Amino acid sequence: MSKIRAAVVGLGQAGSRFDKDLPRVGIWTHVGAYLELHDSIDLVGAADILLENRTHFEERCPHIPCFSTAADMIKSVHPEIISVATPAATHQSVIEEILKFGKPKLIVCEKPLEICNENRKRIVDSCQAAGVPCIVNYTRRYSEVYQLLKKKMDDGLIGKVRSITVFNANRSLTMGSHALDLLCYLSGQLPQKWVGLNNPALFELAEPAIDFMCLFPDHVTGRILNNGFKSFRLFEVDVIGEKGRLKVPKNGERLDHIPYSQSKKFTDATSEEMPRTLYETKPADEAVYVTLVNEAAALVNHKMTPTCSCDVAYRTEALLEEILKIK
Ligand SMILES: NC(=O)c1ccc[n+]([C@@H]2O[C@H](COP(=O)([O-])OP(=O)(O)OC[C@H]3O[C@@H](n4cnc5c(N)ncnc54)[C@H](O)[C@@H]3O)[C@@H](O)[C@H]2O)c1
Repeated sequence: MSKIRAAVVGLGQAGSRFDKDLPRVGIWTHVGAYLELHDSIDLVGAADILLENRTHFEERCPHIPCFSTAADMIKSVHPEIISVATPAATHQSVIEEILKFGKPKLIVCEKPLEICNENRKRIVDSCQAAGVPCIVNYTRRYSEVYQLLKKKMDDGLIGKVRSITVFNANRSLTMGSHALDLLCYLSGQLPQKWVGLNNPALFELAEPAIDFMCLFPDHVTGRILNNGFKSFRLFEVDVIGEKGRLKVPKNGERLDHIPYSQSKKFTDATSEEMPRTLYETKPADEAVYVTLVNEAAALVNHKMTPTCSCDVAYRTEALLEEILKIK
């Protein structure tokens, strides 16, 4: 089978530079992920309006053509998959440009899909009209630990799930979008009722800190809780069921199962047994971007349901837009 032709628009942090600039190791960019999958994917081009980031890319990939616009790149190299890693407020215009000048088989859009519902809807509608699927990089959906957590929940390891709590690393837009997306991914539903509480003391980088509580249609309670500023980087998940508890501490580096057994102290009550670690990883082994572009390649070759389609991202972000109105 011939290799799939891929390209990246936007060569800043998520596009290419995180791999060099971040203190953490591993692959954290679209360019890095396509290069890693060189056996099945050819990175055939890249584009950025900023000379500085084009220069960084040309130093990294001297043999791959780099352009100052998506239009010029598409006309020249005809990619089948195009990653969009430009700032959120440009996603709609960049995707319009892509669809005007080419017909890729798939678009991979960085999260968030866009910054307002009107533009999100335009992306969904124009991709649908052009027959070009678009997936969105809500990174945690592509992370092994959360995929395993969901599987254990769906397999019934902790019985009927009663609540899902996400401890968020503050900032209800940038990190809150990850938290809300993860909550909806784990529950497999959108909330039917919700309330929120804005804590002005945690307002940071022009973003509110809104604690959020919701009820899903199957009566599972969902919560997103902020516990301090960005520097206190707490992002954890705690799922409580009737037969046990599943916890993801250490920002996704571990999954623990805590079964319940008959309490020795109280009749008709359970108590927690010692935690059993089901999964452990090192940040260096995380490969969410590779998983993402691997799925993109699989979607080009096979009919399958994407982990995060643009419709799913649109619905979650529309809810987030409502939550962010809380004063
Ligand atoms: N999934 C994650 O965890 C994660 C992490 C970081 C960033 N992001 C997302 O990635 C996206 C990019 O963020 P970033 O931090 O890499 O931004 P950035 O500013 O570092 O890079 C964006 C690049 O896009 C280029 N650009 C802007 N408009 C363009 C256009 N019309 N055509 C071509 N290039 C254009 C800019 O010149 C810049 O080089 C955002 O949506 C952001 O939310 C996601």
